[in-house]
Amino acid sequence: MKEHIKLFVDLKQARKFREKQKLEVQIKRLEREDDVQAFDCGDHELNDYLKRHAWASQQQNSVGVTYVAVDHGVVLGYYTLASGSILRDLLNPDMVTGLPRYRNLPVALLARLAVDLRVQTSGLGKSLLRDAFTVVLNLSRQIGLLYLIVDAYPTAVEWFRRFGFITIGEKPAAGTQHMLIDLRTVTAALIAGSNPLSR
Ligand SMILES: CC(C)(COP(=O)(O)OP(=O)(O)OC[C@H]1O[C@@H](n2cnc3c(N)ncnc32)[C@H](O)[C@@H]1OP(=O)(O)O)[C@@H](O)C(=O)NCCC(=O)NCCS
Repeated sequence: MKEHIKLFVDLKQARKFREKQKLEVQIKRLEREDDVQAFDCGDHELNDYLKRHAWASQQQNSVGVTYVAVDHGVVLGYYTLASGSILRDLLNPDMVTGLPRYRNLPVALLARLAVDLRVQTSGLGKSLLRDAFTVVLNLSRQIGLLYLIVDAYPTAVEWFRRFGFITIGEKPAAGTQHMLIDLRTVTAALIAGSNPLSR
């Protein structure tokens, strides 16, 4: 019985590996000609944003910039970044020790993140998050930025926790959970190789 279970697990790993090999994914800024029509991450709002609003938000009103993971022009995943601020009072005192007493602190907002159902759990979400960190850490050398924040779906809270995000504020009965990560922590963890994103 044990042998069967092991074989099953190995086959699953092998299939996962082959699928990864077939993908030739490139992560880049959304362009008009990117094919988003077949995208389905299982969440209507996230699908709809990519198909109907992402391009306008980026090109017309600049409220968010979207980065897409494309395989031969087909979008398999995306994230959207915006900027914002967070009320200092929402943070634990130890998180703001040594910071100036500003009422609002500057943040980057991971406004959307989604991976197509066809390739979920094959590492693409992690690659997109790593890419988002690269963008945000580069920006933080040019403008003031302290945290990357996300309003996480309840089903994604544990996923974000894997990469060092912590919950802030009350745990909502329903809806999204505020989470954040300190950019200074990310930099240190990536340099030390201690964040799963470094692997
Ligand atoms: C959440 C999401 C972006 C993760 O992307 P993904 O490509 O499926 O995840 P990855 O394969 O990169 O995940 C890396 C690891 O986390 C695990 N994982 C995946 N989804 C998870 C979840 N919801 N909770 C906990 N762990 C999860 C994977 O199994 C993988 O584990 P491993 O490294 O041990 O193999 C994706 O599942 C998704 O788009 N979900 C629907 C939309 C959504 O919830 N977006 C977030 C909105 S805030």
